[in-house]
Amino acid sequence: MSRRTRIKEALNSTAPVDKLLIKGWVRTKRDAKGFAFLEMNDGSCLKNIQVIIDETAPGFQALKAITTGSSVSVDGRLVESPGKGQKWEIHASSVQLIGPADPETYPLQKKRHSDEFLRTIAHLRPRTNKYGAIFRIRSEGSFAAHQFFHERGFSYIHTPIITGSDCEGAGEMFRVTTLPVVPEQKPGSNLFEQDFFGKEANLTVSGQLEVESYACSLGNVYTFGPTFRAENSNTPRHASEFWMIEPEMAFADLDDNMDLGEDMVKSMTLHVMEHCADDLQLFARFVDKTLMGVLENIVSSDFVRLPYREAIQILQQTKQKFEFPTEFGTDLQTEHERFLCETHFKKPVIVYNYPKAIKPFYMRVNDDNETVAAMDVLVPRIGELIGGSQREERLDVLQQRIAETGMDDAPYWWYLDLRRFGTVPHSGFGLGFERFLMMVTGVTNIRDVIPFPRTPKHLEF
Ligand code: 4AD
Ligand code: MG
Repeated sequence: MSRRTRIKEALNSTAPVDKLLIKGWVRTKRDAKGFAFLEMNDGSCLKNIQVIIDETAPGFQALKAITTGSSVSVDGRLVESPGKGQKWEIHASSVQLIGPADPETYPLQKKRHSDEFLRTIAHLRPRTNKYGAIFRIRSEGSFAAHQFFHERGFSYIHTPIITGSDCEGAGEMFRVTTLPVVPEQKPGSNLFEQDFFGKEANLTVSGQLEVESYACSLGNVYTFGPTFRAENSNTPRHASEFWMIEPEMAFADLDDNMDLGEDMVKSMTLHVMEHCADDLQLFARFVDKTLMGVLENIVSSDFVRLPYREAIQILQQTKQKFEFPTEFGTDLQTEHERFLCETHFKKPVIVYNYPKAIKPFYMRVNDDNETVAAMDVLVPRIGELIGGSQREERLDVLQQRIAETGMDDAPYWWYLDLRRFGTVPHSGFGLGFERFLMMVTGVTNIRDVIPFPRTPKHLEF
């Protein structure tokens, strides 16, 4: 296999190159007298490289069949470009068509396509500037998360995707089964006995419970994987399958947790700003003109730390009208979350100590017995980016909370063991990776930052 130069490398070259080979897809072709221009992109960066092909070059005849979307291979020289806006161009010595793209049916044409249309061709949309940029940023953001934890000595734990327990206790789970049809349940029989695992199995909604057992042995850990929620909420911020980054720290309280969340959001944001500058510029120019200001603000400001009770007071005292009223005991809606960080404080806000009644069983009960040591990190444009807590480490309190919430504690025997044997205060959270990507790009629909979105009634590809 001959070595090809990636277009990013060619464009970053510091000197002309006598002989190089590039391969990519044609974005546009222009014919002139005696030669032709190709704009080529291979996905390595946002920019195209311009290729000039003289009619005497081998393969010039093939150009007729080379249209937008075709894949081609070009041999040539990298020379300084006299054109504006580009340092280098390629003078082809030969061109070869690898795969044609019928212009009658190739769906991506030079005009601008709507995000809605591009969702219907999610297999081709990464060939556009915008989606190429999103998915390079997604890759870099994911690396940034791993680097953040690696530098801090956290171990990466692969928690299971198929699970027998419901972490959030909300029952919004997808069932995993090999049964041809759901059998009729006879009184006293276990419906799932005949199933593959001999018990009810589901796709995980969070790796938290499992990762807690590794925090209570390796100390500082995290998991980063896909999670699944069967909640029927068709909003621009919810997907049925999404990726979550979940750190968990032993010997850590809620303050430590807030510190980690704030550091992580800043560090990942800064990493993307530094390593995806060209791609981010596209969003700052065409998607949201305020983007870079918002990101600068996130990396440079101290996040506000606001007890839930005070958040409710602020929301009750403002003149701003909301769709949903607030009082102690109600969950914050996106409109409230966005008001707090976009209008009131104008920077990220960590709301903590939520009422016990609206939070899951595993959160540590505070001394007031009314609130739990929960925290949500709220960011501009998104609202909730992170949800987490200090965990209930006291066996009796945890058992009581499970009972209170009407759950059966039998499947949690192993989770309770962590409290039976060498229990420790520990804390962690989950950061929704797609919401992070919406925050850094300004993209307003979660369907556009995940390669193949899964949402209620949508499972194409
Ligand atoms: O607040 P959540 O439900 O918290 C948990 O699952 C905890 N077990 C995490 C932990 O403590 N280890 O979800 C965490 C984050 C939310 O703040 C949000 O960013 C994202 O996951 N999220 C979703 N993102 C996209 N689509 C959905 N349906 C989401 N549900 C939650
Ligand atoms: Mg939450």
